[in-house]
Amino acid sequence: MRGCDLRKIHATAQVSENAKIAADVTIGAFSIIYDNVHIEHGVHIGPSVILGEPHSAYYRSEEYENPPLMIGAGSLIRSGTVVYAGSTIGEGFQCGHHVVIREGTTIGAHCSAGTFCDIEGYCTLGDYVRLHSHVHLCQHTVVGNCVWLFPGVTVTNDLHPPSDEFRGAMIEDYAVVATGAVLLPGVRIGNSAVVGASALVRKDVPPHALVAQPPARVMGDVRQIILSEAGEPVYPWATRFKRGMPWEDTDFETWSREQGGRQHPIAPVRG
Ligand SMILES: CC(C)(COP(=O)(O)OP(=O)(O)OC[C@H]1O[C@@H](n2cnc3c(N)ncnc32)[C@H](O)[C@@H]1OP(=O)(O)O)[C@@H](O)C(=O)NCCC(=O)NCCS
Repeated sequence: MRGCDLRKIHATAQVSENAKIAADVTIGAFSIIYDNVHIEHGVHIGPSVILGEPHSAYYRSEEYENPPLMIGAGSLIRSGTVVYAGSTIGEGFQCGHHVVIREGTTIGAHCSAGTFCDIEGYCTLGDYVRLHSHVHLCQHTVVGNCVWLFPGVTVTNDLHPPSDEFRGAMIEDYAVVATGAVLLPGVRIGNSAVVGASALVRKDVPPHALVAQPPARVMGDVRQIILSEAGEPVYPWATRFKRGMPWEDTDFETWSREQGGRQHPIAPVRG
């Protein structure tokens, strides 16, 4: 894990002697890797990326020690992205351009973040989370596994700004939040729920509910939405979509069973 192949690090990149970088990592032009960044094998870092961006104390104190930043194996970090020191990013992470990830954030395995996503810090994301472009997560947001946040979703945390009373929202496993939705502080989006485009969510959303409109109201149960041509249910989405998901080589039901039922929160609708 220590040492690195200099042929794969661009001549203009600056890499701290106190970074731990696997031998096969590639680093693009003008990128900067600060102290205490740990990069596992198979990671590709594009041009003008900053990893381990120091906290503001770095600029004020000689005593400052950069907290560790972990970048999991096989990740792809595209140009212009900045990841602050003091976060952990799981294996197989992929991001677009100009993504910002602040300190204190934990991201699980096989997640992605589209161009211009802004993860404000102290957020927790599970595995297989998909953030499309321009998603903004305020501090203390908690996101489960296999959650989709589509372009321009904003998750807030301060009900009466400006204040220091932050209440992060929680988005449970398999939930889908459509384009441009805004989640107000502290709301909980239930397992497998769908939040419609442009919804303004002020209250908790029950599992499997479809909510839409500003302010969001429950329009029904997502499992009752039917594909008009095929007559098939659209949701749970996991039973008809598998690209990039842990059940990609099988099907959702088989995979769920193999997980010992732990991943079986998606029940068919009754009645
Ligand atoms: C929420 C959503 C899934 C509902 O789709 P649907 O079940 O096909 O809904 P319908 O078109 O049958 O509409 C049913 C009713 O809800 C209303 N409605 C549907 N979606 C709405 C929304 N996002 N906001 C407000 N009202 C909405 C419709 O106007 C309609 O009302 P009516 O019966 O008075 O005419 C869909 O609107 C949506 O947001 N899709 C996600 C789009 C997106 O962001 N994709 C990802 C990025 S590409």
